[in-house]
Amino acid sequence: MTVMTTSPAREKNKISAKPGPYTIETVLEVKHFTDRLFYFRITRPSSFRFRSGEFVMIGLPKEDGKPLLRAYSVASPFWDEALDFYSIKVPDGPLTSRLQHIQPGDEVLLGKKPTGTLVLDALKPGKRLYLVSTGTGIAPFASLVRDPETYEKFDQVILTHTCREAAELTYGHELVEATKQDELIGEMAQDKLVHFTSVTREDGPVKGRVTDMINSGELFAHLGVPALDPEVDRVMICGSEGLLKDTRQICIDRGFVEGSNAAPADFVVEKAFVATD
Ligand code: A2P
Repeated sequence: MTVMTTSPAREKNKISAKPGPYTIETVLEVKHFTDRLFYFRITRPSSFRFRSGEFVMIGLPKEDGKPLLRAYSVASPFWDEALDFYSIKVPDGPLTSRLQHIQPGDEVLLGKKPTGTLVLDALKPGKRLYLVSTGTGIAPFASLVRDPETYEKFDQVILTHTCREAAELTYGHELVEATKQDELIGEMAQDKLVHFTSVTREDGPVKGRVTDMINSGELFAHLGVPALDPEVDRVMICGSEGLLKDTRQICIDRGFVEGSNAAPADFVVEKAFVATD
């Protein structure tokens, strides 16, 4: 592809890339939430299929023209015509230092092969689904809470999101509000989706790490549900390394078995890929 169009404000960044395991897509929308977090929406090729909760490679060419790609969870539902992503901005991160400046009309690289463990197929049937996230780890769950199958499989879906500051919870609040108003899944979400948020580095309505609140029982008291039980509860975890390690241990200590695509079980774990880049 070559530079073809210009706008009065700014020339769009078009990509000239060699064929590879990616396609070239156009940025449709960008929204900045804080100086650390932003969202972007890109075109979706008709051949691009994925399961809710999966991740895919996203990138830009480097100065030498070689592609620089990183894993990103798809944050939009499978039925959406475009693809959403939610990203951290790392000032000197090789990709996000540049990706944070994209604007509508610019182009990005999209990997052709989505994959991942945070999928409904990796869990055994259960009654209550916990989606435990910190920071940008909410992204795969933004897809799952808009998948009708999530509500067909579970009586209750509890999305927990913990961030340092309240401003970092905005994306999740807007997501849940939009989901409950959605034509396709709004009614199911209103019945079954519960959103629990907490902050750790400023005073919020609820302050503390979700792991501490699971251990103390505060989370369950707050939600009005029984404590974690592998007989009926299923758990997906996505966020920082610390969250993954600690929540995995909590699950194992309570008798939960880790699942995978090949062997569905009680809980699944995946890191929020862009946390360090
Ligand atoms: P804390 O502020 O106590 O470190 P980050 O922005 O660094 O990715 O962190 C996002 C959120 O994840 C923060 O609220 C942070 O809390 C929380 N967090 C970090 N480590 C853990 C952990 N081991 N268990 C639970 N929450 C964690």
